[in-house]
Parts: sequence; C-alpha cells; structure tokens
Amino acid sequence: MNIIENIEQSKRDFFEDKTVLVTGGAGFIGTNLVNELCNYSPKKIIIIDNLFTGLKSNIPIFDFVDFVEGSVENFDLVFDLMKKCDIVFHLAVRNIIVSTKDPEKDFATNAIGTFNILESARRLKNIKKIVYTSSSSVYGNTSHLPITENDSLYALNPYAASKLTGEAYCNAYFETYMVPVSVVRYTNVCGPYSNPSNPYSGVISKFIYSALNNQPITIHGDGEQTRDFTYVDDTIEATISVAISDKSIGEIYNVGTGVETSINNLAKIILEILNTSKSEINHIDKRDIDNIRRRVLDIEKIRKSLRWTPKVTLRDGLVETINWIIKTSGKGI
Ligand code: UD1
Repeated sequence: MNIIENIEQSKRDFFEDKTVLVTGGAGFIGTNLVNELCNYSPKKIIIIDNLFTGLKSNIPIFDFVDFVEGSVENFDLVFDLMKKCDIVFHLAVRNIIVSTKDPEKDFATNAIGTFNILESARRLKNIKKIVYTSSSSVYGNTSHLPITENDSLYALNPYAASKLTGEAYCNAYFETYMVPVSVVRYTNVCGPYSNPSNPYSGVISKFIYSALNNQPITIHGDGEQTRDFTYVDDTIEATISVAISDKSIGEIYNVGTGVETSINNLAKIILEILNTSKSEINHIDKRDIDNIRRRVLDIEKIRKSLRWTPKVTLRDGLVETINWIIKTSGKGI
C-alpha cells in the first residue's frame, strides 16, 4: 500500500463504525463534504439543513444518509440528533451578505446554533469530535500577510463577530468541559455546488456565469483587493483530516492555499479560460461588506501537524467549476 492508499484506508477505518452529523449538509461546502464522506461508507450520515440556501436535490440517495429539515437554532432538535452521533461537522451558517442585512438572525444561526452544538455535546458526552467551520473573516485586516492562526482577530462586520463568537465558545467548551472540538478557518472556497443562481454565492461562480452568458463581469471597486481561493476538494480533505486526527482537539487551523490573487487577475484568468466569451469588465462601487483589502493565509500549521497541503491550482479549480456550471445550467459559449 502506498501513502495515499494508507490515508484513504485510515479514513475508511475511522468512519466505518461512526454516525456523522453534518449541519448545513445541503449547502455548497456541506454537499461536497457529504459526497466525500459517502466514499468512506460511515454507519450513518445525518444531514440537518433548513434549506435557506441549501437544496434538497443536493442530498445523495443512499440508505445510510438521512435528511432532517430544520435549524441548528432549535436546541431540542440538535440535542436529539446528536444523541445518535459520534462525529459532528458544523457547517450551518448565515452567509456574510445576508448576515449584514439581518444581524439578529445572523447571531441566532451562527452564534446560538454553535452554542447549541457544544452544549448538546457537553450534556451528552458521546461525541468524539466536533469540527467547527469558521472563517478567515475573523481576522479583519491584519498588519502583515500571510495571516497565521496567532495573528490578532478583529470582527469588521456582524458575520465575523458571530463566527468569532462560535470560536470563543469552542475554546471555552474545550478548556472548561473537555468537549473535543477543532476549528478550521476557511478562506474563499470555490467549486461545484456553488450555484451562481444563489444570490449569496461567491465571486468565482458569479464571474463564470457572466462570462458564459456574455454578460459584463462586475468588479466592485478597483479590483486590486485580494483573496486566497481554495478549491472545495482541498477544503474538504483538510476538514476530514482535522476530524480524524487526535492531535487536532482544541486546535485552530487555517485552511487556504497561501496564494494571493487579486479580483482583477481572477477575472483575467476566467476570461483566458473562456476565451470566446464576449464579456467586458465593468467596475462599480464597493459593497457595504467590502472592507477586507487583502487576504492570504499561512497554512504551515496544518501542513506540519496533519500533513495536509492543497493540491488543486486556481486555474484547475476554475476549469472544474466552469465544467460543473455548464453541466448543471446547460449554459455554455
Ligand atoms: C467570503 C465568503 C464568506 C467568508 C469570507 C472569508 C462567499 C460568498 N463569502 O467573503 O462566507 O466568510 O469569504 O473567507 O464566499 N466581488 C466582485 N464582484 C462580484 C462579487 C464579488 O468584485 O460580483 C469582489 C468583492 O468585492 C470582494 C471579492 O470579490 O472583494 C470576494 O467577494 P466574495 O466572493 O463575495 O467573498 P468575500 O466577501 O471575500
């Protein structure tokens, strides 16, 4: 057996007797995670999703996959589901755009929802690992790049505040009650199931959709703002590595690529790939949530401790995302 086969076998060994709860499992990243988990044939996967942005049609049809339509805001429901579970991937979230419009609802889902998971685990004592998916937005604008896990945190908007609140409760429940929780801080993730018809989808699927339909590509501001774009398969692999490791309990990991790309450059690469597109680039005003100028993560901690590194380049990830959008929307040039 080579190293890759060994890793795959250890994942199968880990999940074969486990019941796994995936909150937000019908959304973009949740669907990719559930699909990957299905490859490891766990005893059961339970998905809880309120279908606010998730889609029921994303849920794979296997007898070991159960879907519960509901919200993590409902403590009794969360408690009840977690009674049967060993592992929890907590992905359910109100996204940044909708959060800024309704900060109260953002707090209810992102902060109280996370509290409900942790408090259920504290009372039940049966949970072997919770992975809380946080966001690099907890850093705000840092004084240097790339951003490490030890850099200062500053919430620039209610979404960042609620995600940071979730992290604070993870730390507190680990330190006080030994609830076995790990935190991953994602950057901007792209890939299949990031649906451009979803108004809250990220910049990549929006640009691809525009380019495929010969519509203007709209850049907010001067386009020199930067992001660290991660392909979803890499994000999922990192998340699963954290879940199956004993070393990760009580730890926080950046999950990104360490590669900084400006929005102008992103638009250029998409138009190079879709080189028959007639789309033009159009600059408009910044959005009210656009207060992060530059973002790129240092990923040394997860590389050294869990031997995870991203494998998919931005260009290859864009090609995969383009193929998925063409396949699912039937649009193409
Ligand atoms: C993203 C995530 C958020 C996550 C955060 C930190 C999405 C939708 N949001 O926010 O959940 O917590 O990263 O990792 O993935 N832009 C344009 N034109 C567009 C859309 C966006 O120029 O049509 C620009 C924006 O102004 C921004 C950049 O692209 O500067 C990225 O925007 P977006 O994809 O919405 O993500 P973030 O705001 O970084």
